[in-house]
Amino acid sequence: MIKKMSKFLLSTALITGLFTSVLSSQANATQPSTQEKYRVETIAHRGASGYAPENTMSAFRKAEEMKADYFELDVQMSKDGHLVVIHDTTVNRTTNGTGNVKDLTLTELRQLDAGSKFNPTFAGEKIPTFDEVLEEFRGKIGILIELKAPELYPGIEEKVAQALKKHNMHKPKNEKIIVQSFNFESMKKFHQLLPEVPVGVLTSDPNHLSDAKIKEFATYANYVNPNLKIVNKQVVENIHAHGMKVQSWTVRSRSAVQPLLDAKVDGIITDYPDYVPRNKSN
Ligand code: G3P
Ligand code: CA
Repeated sequence: MIKKMSKFLLSTALITGLFTSVLSSQANATQPSTQEKYRVETIAHRGASGYAPENTMSAFRKAEEMKADYFELDVQMSKDGHLVVIHDTTVNRTTNGTGNVKDLTLTELRQLDAGSKFNPTFAGEKIPTFDEVLEEFRGKIGILIELKAPELYPGIEEKVAQALKKHNMHKPKNEKIIVQSFNFESMKKFHQLLPEVPVGVLTSDPNHLSDAKIKEFATYANYVNPNLKIVNKQVVENIHAHGMKVQSWTVRSRSAVQPLLDAKVDGIITDYPDYVPRNKSN
């Protein structure tokens, strides 16, 4: 009898133990540890601009080839109202031409060489139109679109919104698209035009990271994207607490990466996409 009882108790204990261990291994499989949950996104700044001339199709193709989550670009407007992709408000630094972007027609801008100054092997590279970038990369990689100096280009918000609509990129489920600017009024306006497209505010000013400013940004923005010099864990937590994400810029050295990972930013904007650890928890 005693033998029977102890046999029964032993098998009950074994079954209970087995059951508990199956349950706990299932729980572990479906609930990754806190560390595994954090994954940073890589955003190739002006394309993979450490490896190809900034804001060119070559730099965007390189970003895709390097498996960045997004590339970033700067959009401005030609004299005759076409959206073009270039960072500076003049063509002087990145092309063989001179003059303001806003004083040159699309034909004049397209005649310039936007590759040779980076490296002669890129001779003949053109200033891209915004349209051709959307056309080629829609659905292949995320695009972080910066409206550069929108105060110089009345109506640029409407034109960007129209272009996104034309390519069916204006709904959140379509593609990974974010629109950002240092000009907050422009972002408020863009948010009204296409409320479903996430908007970001760019800043290098620590005063823009006060509680009051973050609260205000949260009324229209989904991202606060600060210069890496003003980012820390507390700033990121505060922005997260207001329901927004953080993509910080610009990483140009390997040593600049870890502090941003420690601060738990959501995205790292870098000229060198390979500097950011990929496809694993950070
Ligand atoms: O995306 C962030 C970054 O592009 C902002 O600075 O001067 O490179 O346009 P900038
Ligand atoms: Ca930019």
